[in-house]
Amino acid sequence: MRINKIACIGAGYVGGPTMSVIAQKNPHIQVTVVDLNVDRINAWNDENLEKLPVYEPGLDAVVGEARGRNLFFSTDVDQAISDADMIFISVNTPTKTYGKGKGQAADLKFIELCARQIADVATSSKVIVEKSTIPVRTAATIKSILDHTGKGLQFQVLSNPEFLAEGTAIQDLHHPDRILIGGEDQSAIKALKSIYEAWVPSERIITTNLWSSELSKLVANAFLAQRVSSINSISELCEATGANVEEVANAIGQDTRIGSKFLKASVGFGGSCFQKDLLNLVYIARSYNLNEVADYWDQVIKINDHQKTRFAEKIIQSMYNTVNGKKIAFLGWAFKKNTNDTRESAAIYVADHLLEERAQINVFDPKVQEHQIYKDLKELNTRSASENSELLTVMDDPYKACQAAHGIAILTEWDEFNDYDWKRIKDNMKKPAFVFDGRKLLDRKKLEDLGFVYYAIGE
Ligand code: NAD
Ligand code: UGA
Repeated sequence: MRINKIACIGAGYVGGPTMSVIAQKNPHIQVTVVDLNVDRINAWNDENLEKLPVYEPGLDAVVGEARGRNLFFSTDVDQAISDADMIFISVNTPTKTYGKGKGQAADLKFIELCARQIADVATSSKVIVEKSTIPVRTAATIKSILDHTGKGLQFQVLSNPEFLAEGTAIQDLHHPDRILIGGEDQSAIKALKSIYEAWVPSERIITTNLWSSELSKLVANAFLAQRVSSINSISELCEATGANVEEVANAIGQDTRIGSKFLKASVGFGGSCFQKDLLNLVYIARSYNLNEVADYWDQVIKINDHQKTRFAEKIIQSMYNTVNGKKIAFLGWAFKKNTNDTRESAAIYVADHLLEERAQINVFDPKVQEHQIYKDLKELNTRSASENSELLTVMDDPYKACQAAHGIAILTEWDEFNDYDWKRIKDNMKKPAFVFDGRKLLDRKKLEDLGFVYYAIGE
């Protein structure tokens, strides 16, 4: 089986960067990324590479190299499906907001729509690759839809989950720890494998059955999220006992069986996937009546919610138990540094909690746009849009955001926050000048020497 043309449905945080790298490394294959969202496709096609819809270090160079050569972005989904030998499905699979499984199960309507559209449009046999994160056994649904076209076409379905993390997507795609391919048909597996072999050593490409591959993706995220919740739970114990969470993380991380990565205490994990995928794992376990398994993983989410609430409460309590009318500057809104993605960012929930207490919040984030911040708050439905914009202001200058503030909260670990003139910031604040460091980013000694009252998670 030879793959000459690839289509990818979904030009988001996964489809865009992943296909850009596949095209970069396989110049002989034509890669077309399609999406229903016209603005998104226009942004992917923008001459100015700074306007790509996804901010990701190094992405502009990869797109610059391949776009127009063998990488194309388009809204013509039917044409791309019809032309392709292999179709990646990279659409969103959010938590259901209605009906059975509301608030837990993954909403597979976008996946099913893709399968139906492929079934309608295809006139030749194709390999379908699940790139989106989906519940175990979704391939059976896709296959069932594709097997009923009545056109006598052959569709092979493979699972190829993506493990990139936002903010390091290009690095992760260029040097993956592993590529996982699940499937039954050996020639389809071989064809997909050969695409990755253009730059990934063969021994890093793992093949499994379909169900192990689908489930492994949810489990990888669950284990990663569990590490963050584990260290975050210990951060509270450190604050109560005089231990220091960074010292504890360092001491346990030196044990090679535990390892040092993903032990950074924080205001709570965010992002579009950890919570969604954990909820989904819990839902799947419950649907098999495995209630103890479900409860075990549910607790990882509960600790995460607790960590965000605890941080907001710490701010209120430190500021003499009221923040009503007080100005609090938020540095950072994205769910982590080096991304413009704000989905499930801890900042949204901390802000919401403080706004309920009538705080005045000024937000500065180097990459997140104003309309996105108001949109995130609106989606919570806690108060009206006009109340949100009365209480919260988005600033394009960090010094202005901190001007006359009673306190500053660090919500995202952007490197540039460390380089600010903290003396200038302190001089222009109300006293006592509080800093609440939700990312353990700043230097305690430096800030205390300048006269700040400094609180960091887990110290
Ligand atoms: P996203 O929301 O950024 O992108 C999905 C895109 O699919 C959207 O632009 C949407 O318009 C498009 N789309 C939906 N239905 C469509 C259809 N029928 N036809 C054409 N386009 C359609 O989502 P994302 O962050 O890229 O995530 C996609 C999947 O990858 C999810 O399952 C997610 O869990 C998984 N994943 C995400 C990450 C990450 O870091 N964001 C990492 C690994 C896996
Ligand atoms: C995560 C996984 O790391 C990826 O492997 C996976 O592909 C992806 O989810 C997905 O399925 O979407 P991502 O959410 O982009 O990637 O970012 P992470 O680096 O995992 O960070 C998630 C959250 O955990 C962030 O809010 C981050 O600040 C927080 N975190 C991470 C901590 O608080 N402490 C840590 O030590 C690590």
